[in-house]
Amino acid sequence: TAEQGQYQTGYEFVVVANRLAVNRITTPDGSTGWQRSPGGLVTALAPIMTSSEGAWVGWHGAADESLEPFDHEGMHLHPVALSEQEVEYYYEGFSNGTLWPLYHDVIARPLFHRHWWDAYRRVNQRFAEAAGKVAAQGATVWVQDYQLQLVPQMLRDLRPDVKIGFFNHIPFPPPGLFAQLPWRHSVMRGLLGADLIGFQRESDARNFQRAVRDRLGYYIKSEQIYVPLEDETAAPLEGFTADPARGTAPRQLSAPEDGTFRRSEAKAFPISIDTDRIVELANDPKIIARAAQIRAELGNPEHIYLGVDRLDYTKGIRHRMKAYEELLQEGKLQVGTHTMVQIASPSREGVESYQRLRDEIELTVGRINGEFDTMGHTAIRYLHHNYPIEEMVALYLAADVMLVTALRDGMNLVAKEYVAARKDGTGVLVLSEFTGAADQLRQALLINPHDIDELKAAMVQATHLDRDNERKRMRSLRRQVVSHNVQRWAEDFLRRLDQL
Ligand code: F6P
Repeated sequence: TAEQGQYQTGYEFVVVANRLAVNRITTPDGSTGWQRSPGGLVTALAPIMTSSEGAWVGWHGAADESLEPFDHEGMHLHPVALSEQEVEYYYEGFSNGTLWPLYHDVIARPLFHRHWWDAYRRVNQRFAEAAGKVAAQGATVWVQDYQLQLVPQMLRDLRPDVKIGFFNHIPFPPPGLFAQLPWRHSVMRGLLGADLIGFQRESDARNFQRAVRDRLGYYIKSEQIYVPLEDETAAPLEGFTADPARGTAPRQLSAPEDGTFRRSEAKAFPISIDTDRIVELANDPKIIARAAQIRAELGNPEHIYLGVDRLDYTKGIRHRMKAYEELLQEGKLQVGTHTMVQIASPSREGVESYQRLRDEIELTVGRINGEFDTMGHTAIRYLHHNYPIEEMVALYLAADVMLVTALRDGMNLVAKEYVAARKDGTGVLVLSEFTGAADQLRQALLINPHDIDELKAAMVQATHLDRDNERKRMRSLRRQVVSHNVQRWAEDFLRRLDQL
């Protein structure tokens, strides 16, 4: 039909993400250009994009600027424009002031503002329309992350012919916390528009299934959710202004009749890193030399503790510093023999809770250094910058102990990068049990970051492990990370989506 013919010319594979796969850069002569984003997602999907003639739909990072589609290194990029107010309401507001804290165990207080929700819906609709416009008949569309949870159903309403996947990069909260969200029904229905909904951990997938069972009453068998077709046609998500009045729904105890439902699968697909790239960098003589130089610049301490995080309240940076400060006070660690390097990359600086956190961290670093620094040595070398991956790998090679103390984290790729870089089998990973990575990296020193004494004990233990124990643990961790890279993650997800 004419309608089917309409989409013959689009792309067979479309990725939809809040951010485009490129960052704008300014070259030394002052002109601007684009550079492929260094993140794992782009690395994993770029080869699939180029070989399958794929398109990437996303925001290019600037407000009030409309850009025409353009190509970069074999990828077709379709920028979505956001006004300054949308950046404030949709990105800083609903995404990072409501959903982010709510989905991370309410470590910070989520704010619920109706005008933020309105912007979130509006922007999600814009992303869905942009994806709907570029997808070929029967294409596969893969929607990424919590900023775009309504896109799957909105896209299905526009383009019932396409296959839709969704992956949530952050945790999905326990149903009791998710229930706080005034728009919980719309968010669940938005996600259920996907044929396959991927989560980082088994427990995230279970949290989602339980929320759907308790609140919408849908029948669920193992990972399959039976979505009644009448719910989709009765109230399309576009134009939805409020959630239905019901709080919970009676649970459907048996599979509905054939032809009255559609199946959506909710399942764990733990993400990983571009392991080969990290290993390659860790073997590079220039980077190995840089690692030695870093140690020398820090005064050749016996033990270097390293923290690498976006400056985010979910990362447990304060807990880590408290533990370290107490160990210095008690004389269990000594400046000169021990040092801590904390890389805190700038993040979401327009959001108030992030501004407050930065002040607190910088006050704490100043206090600890003021008390414990000597002329020649520092207690904490704190760096509020972004670094290229080459410098990060040099830091991983220089550090004896990696501290990952997140209070809640979808995965934590820094933990995996550290492990991948330690190709000689030395190095100790202290890892919070509240990260997705802890489900896979069982041979790390697993800790509860809220338990400062336990954290302190692990920090001391990390520098006293006998070499055999250290190497045995690291070898086992490396086996996991080497056999499960981000390319495999993307293949597993897309294969399953294809089977459905
Ligand atoms: O982990 C969630 C996430 O959105 C990542 O996808 C992203 O790399 C990171 O947080 C930084 O977020 P933002 O896009 O807000 O800078």
